[in-house]
Amino acid sequence: MTILTIIAIIVVLVALALAGLFWAITRERPRSLRTLAEDGKSGRALIVCHPGLSAYPERIAKGFALGLQRNGWAVDQITPSRKAGTGLERYDLLVLVAPIYMDRAARPLTRFLARLGALKGNKLALLLTGAGTTDPAMRRLSNAVDTAGGEIVFKQAYTVLRPNEPDEPIEGSNTDIGVEMATRAGAALQLER
Ligand SMILES: Cc1cc2nc3c(=O)[nH]c(=O)nc-3n(C[C@H](O)[C@H](O)[C@H](O)COP(=O)(O)O)c2cc1C
Repeated sequence: MTILTIIAIIVVLVALALAGLFWAITRERPRSLRTLAEDGKSGRALIVCHPGLSAYPERIAKGFALGLQRNGWAVDQITPSRKAGTGLERYDLLVLVAPIYMDRAARPLTRFLARLGALKGNKLALLLTGAGTTDPAMRRLSNAVDTAGGEIVFKQAYTVLRPNEPDEPIEGSNTDIGVEMATRAGAALQLER
């Protein structure tokens, strides 16, 4: 086999791997609506969480949901897909959760947000997960929500490599600290009525 053939095979394999990765991080993962907490005096929240390649984004969503439940919220959860529809009428809070890919929130989430159209004062919480460079993605997502007329009541990026910085000390690995921070944030969330 010539050197050129070997190089060509390597190039093709790398291209296939990148195409596969691109498919994996941009494809929708439709799931049915799950009710995590039926009743709540604080209001009803919809968590729209796009799963990552790892479990981290879903762990963050689960932590925030647990905090909301402790805070007296009814909580439903779904993944961002065309199957999710766009009816938000019954919700007082929309929680968007996604991993960051190439300085943007995962595409299924930004497409879901675009399908919602005008947010007419809906209240939103934005939770992103990333390795460490999270500001560009959070800025883009915040701008998209602002432009659509949504009201951001909470936003935070939780990281895998860059240390998470909790207000109070938390024991555990960096990702465990992130999950506990999300839980405390959900438990402390107060909405002005
Ligand atoms: C293709 C790709 C691009 C990524 N781009 C970023 C990025 O721009 N900023 C960042 O902080 N993390 C980035 N990450 C890391 C993920 O956001 C991080 O691992 C996330 O918490 C969990 O996503 P995962 O479960 O899909 O790995 C990237 C990961 C992948 C696979």
